[in-house]
Amino acid sequence: MDLGIKGKYALVTGGSHGIGLAAARALASEGCHVAICSRDPKRLSTALKILKKEGVKVLAVQADVLVAEDIINATKFIDKSWKKIDILINNVGGGGRWGSESMEETSEKVWSDVFDKNATAAVRFTRWAIPHMRRQKWGRIVTVASVHGKEGGGRPWFNMAKAAQISLMKCLSLKTDLVRDGITFNTVAPGGILIPDTGWDEERKKNPKLFKKKVLENFPLGRLGTPEEVAGVLLFLCSKNASLVNGACITVDGGESKSF
Ligand SMILES: NC(=O)c1ccc[n+]([C@@H]2O[C@H](COP(=O)([O-])OP(=O)(O)OC[C@H]3O[C@@H](n4cnc5c(N)ncnc54)[C@H](OP(=O)(O)O)[C@@H]3O)[C@@H](O)[C@H]2O)c1
Repeated sequence: MDLGIKGKYALVTGGSHGIGLAAARALASEGCHVAICSRDPKRLSTALKILKKEGVKVLAVQADVLVAEDIINATKFIDKSWKKIDILINNVGGGGRWGSESMEETSEKVWSDVFDKNATAAVRFTRWAIPHMRRQKWGRIVTVASVHGKEGGGRPWFNMAKAAQISLMKCLSLKTDLVRDGITFNTVAPGGILIPDTGWDEERKKNPKLFKKKVLENFPLGRLGTPEEVAGVLLFLCSKNASLVNGACITVDGGESKSF
């Protein structure tokens, strides 16, 4: 199936690992030129090598999204290199395991850092991307939230930040001036996704028996998801075929969440 995005220019924030890298690969395999940004230069150069194999233009920009200046510099670099952007995936985020179970013991800095890493970063990249998309009368902005942004459970600073991301996309999707200029705004809400060397994987390595029990009890499929399974949905939302999907929050969780 032709997704109609060959030759488009895309930025995937946090695109050097996990869901972000899988999304960047999916876009590159459809012929999109892809920029990624994240902190660790080693991870960035490994990801760059993987993406280059698709024969598209690639950019890797070092940036910590908790530093406002880094976001400005990253976007300026993309502006200078490409002068355009058609697709933005606000993937960077996390913090669901930051702090502790105790609200009293968790500092206010954790709340603000988690909010900034997820919601403020999405706001900043979105504000940068919109004028480009308006000029060219086409754009796709998709934000990676979480099932925790839709329902209770988990640590509140994370749920609040993820709910804010979903709200941001929904509010923008109702702005007629933006959507009539050809831009769509959507969210993907993944459930538990198993990614090497991150939270779930560390839990699995620490106590494989307990991990297996938890998965069988809480995940209808009896397994966690893969980054590629999320990337497939992200890719569709970035495609021309998704032109009527605007303001949606699509759950990609194998049935883990309880809300409708
Ligand atoms: N994995 C899950 O179970 C799951 C479930 C629901 C939602 N999500 C959401 O999916 C998104 C991606 O998560 P993931 O699990 O794929 O994470 P991951 O595998 O840990 O990858 C995170 C990516 O973001 C980059 N990154 C992290 N902190 C950054 C910062 N401060 N500034 C710039 N880049 C940063 C990382 O590179 P560096 O570390 O080098 O910066 C890496 O490229 C997040 O928004 C997360 O909340 C994940």
